[in-house]
Amino acid sequence: MMEAENFGLHPNSIMRKKIVAGNWKLNNNIEESRALAKEVAALVKAEVSADVQMVVCPVSVNLSTVAAEIDGVENLALGAQNVYPKASGAYTGEVSAPLLKAAGVGYVLIGHSERREYFNESNEFLAEKVKAALAEGLVPVFCCGETLEQRESGVHFDFVKSQLTESLYDLSEADFKKVVIAYEPIWAIGTGVTASSDQAQEMHKVLRDHVASKYGQEVADSTSILYGGSCKPSNAKELFGKPDVDGGLIGGASLKARDFVDIALSY
Ligand code: 13P
Repeated sequence: MMEAENFGLHPNSIMRKKIVAGNWKLNNNIEESRALAKEVAALVKAEVSADVQMVVCPVSVNLSTVAAEIDGVENLALGAQNVYPKASGAYTGEVSAPLLKAAGVGYVLIGHSERREYFNESNEFLAEKVKAALAEGLVPVFCCGETLEQRESGVHFDFVKSQLTESLYDLSEADFKKVVIAYEPIWAIGTGVTASSDQAQEMHKVLRDHVASKYGQEVADSTSILYGGSCKPSNAKELFGKPDVDGGLIGGASLKARDFVDIALSY
């Protein structure tokens, strides 16, 4: 009863976790990260309902600093922006899942479109990253999304479904259930152009049906699918009001504590 009341507008998604994650990208030095994390922690503690899981994803060199600032805030977790599939060895410049875990990380972004584009990360390579994260008990936030050209030529549903198939569908059901999906249309990232709530809902439903076709309806219904791409306080309520949108992956607006928390308060 209490639970149903807490979820308010989302009767269809009662078993799904609501997640609002901030991807800080390559922003904020150590002091700026500390200050932002401190501010976010205070606001989350004071204002955000315990049934909304918040995550902040700073640059890896600032993970430990942020971990210390958010420690003790129940529904605020630490996320990394990337992970390398190997645990250790001669892989100069990389960071592994065991090291992230030891730094206090709980979530890790995998397959962000910026990694796919600038670092040529393939679906196959991302599948390895997902497995490495799961092996350490980290929650992979698997990012997917199409370009504007793909959408305009009508291949967007098949393209995004193939990203899931190729990177995730090797997983056992038990492992798949631990994965969070983030749909981020590339044309909406950092552009100020948000997908309409109907466009987001349409894709999220396609993806949930796709998951159901592989893992069954129960697993699909328990999978959190976040929306990302120019999400801000002014549009979050409408996006989060859609039945298959289970939260957001926030870029620019997560760099301001007040905006980030206001997005979470849109539930
Ligand atoms: P913006 O919110 O800045 O569009 O970025 C979205 C994003 O890429 C989050 O991962």
